[in-house]
Amino acid sequence: MDLTIIIPTFNEAPNVAELVRRIQLAVAGTDAEIVFVDDSNDDTPRVIEEVAAAASMPVRLLHRDDPQGGLSGAVLEGMAIAQSDWCLVMDGDLQHPPEVIPSLVARARRGGVDVVVASRYVGDGTAHGLANGIRTLVSRASTLVTKAMFPIRLQDCTDPMTGFFLVHRPSVVPDELQPRGFKILLELLARRPFRVAEVPFDFAQRFGGESKASLVQGFRFLMQLAMLRFGRMSGFALVGGLGAVANIAIVALLSSFGMSYLVASVIAAEVTILGNFALLERFVFSDLRQESGSMWKRLWKSFAFNNIESAIRIPIATAAVSAGIMHGTVATTVTLAIAFVVRFTFHSLVVYAPQRKARVSAIAKPDTAATVTVPATVAEPERLAS
Ligand code: GDD
Ligand code: MN
Repeated sequence: MDLTIIIPTFNEAPNVAELVRRIQLAVAGTDAEIVFVDDSNDDTPRVIEEVAAAASMPVRLLHRDDPQGGLSGAVLEGMAIAQSDWCLVMDGDLQHPPEVIPSLVARARRGGVDVVVASRYVGDGTAHGLANGIRTLVSRASTLVTKAMFPIRLQDCTDPMTGFFLVHRPSVVPDELQPRGFKILLELLARRPFRVAEVPFDFAQRFGGESKASLVQGFRFLMQLAMLRFGRMSGFALVGGLGAVANIAIVALLSSFGMSYLVASVIAAEVTILGNFALLERFVFSDLRQESGSMWKRLWKSFAFNNIESAIRIPIATAAVSAGIMHGTVATTVTLAIAFVVRFTFHSLVVYAPQRKARVSAIAKPDTAATVTVPATVAEPERLAS
């Protein structure tokens, strides 16, 4: 197989038939297949099966009942089952025009590349299809910030946010990736050096259905960016910062109802301890959840530890202030900074530590991923058959 086209879908039923029709026209004569990786909760899987049955090219469906890692996770699962080493990733709503596929393939055929990116921001590429001015602004700003954070790794890529690209699978090491959210290309390019080339494309209007972009996806992207650049600790810090702001707001709110400072502080501490735990589970340690036992056990460890830690920290800070050793703000800042490091260490080494059983089986289990993982030194990728 020369080419595998991987399409992550979430409730895209209105687009499937038109998408496959235009892809078939665009890749006529190429030995290609389509792999839909679907997490829908509507009739999209049935529509895909119907269209696949009538299609003139191989169309496969992988419907995930337990979708890990959202869009990015879906793309990696598609790559793992692809029959070709050249995997083209595109959206399922026709904002990525199938007619652009031949130009990506042609660039790969010329050799010397691991990834060919379809960019809205090179040559005569455009981003007209972005829903509104705010999305255009956000897309531009996040592209700028992302490129500033990875000046070397992204030097040949003008559009690291795009979801439209062709990658040579042997140059990807799945085990080093933490798929989450929409930005799978960024996850790839930020983790290791790739030889990147680009072709321009016009990001089109959505054909049918609704965009799945949301504020949660936006927050997930910020987390990804911070953790790719500064490591998991930065994600922990972001959540901690959010918790501190929430804490101050809750104390202010409860005090305005006449509640005593001490009672308000205790309620605020408990609420933010629980809130932080929920954010850590979802955004910071999501990749470690599976092997670290039950959520309730993690919650208990985190809750108990954070309370013990606060019960030690607050009296120490109070004592330092009343003894005149430090000003209140300095005492709070210093003790919170120490608490941050202690809390991060405890969560990484205890709360999210892989359980013994998981540890033993990890040692025993043969490295199944080996089939798609190749040695770091990537030989010249074989050219796409002309
Ligand atoms: N399997 C799976 N699981 N597919 C998903 C999920 C998920 O959780 N969430 C979204 N998708 C699919 C959608 O069904 C669609 O085919 C594709 O991923 C992109 O989703 P959209 O909702 O259309 O995203 P967008 O148009 O707002 O953003 C796209 O364009 C941006 C700009 O190029 C995405 O490609 C972004 O990654 C990209 O930055
Ligand atoms: Mn879209």
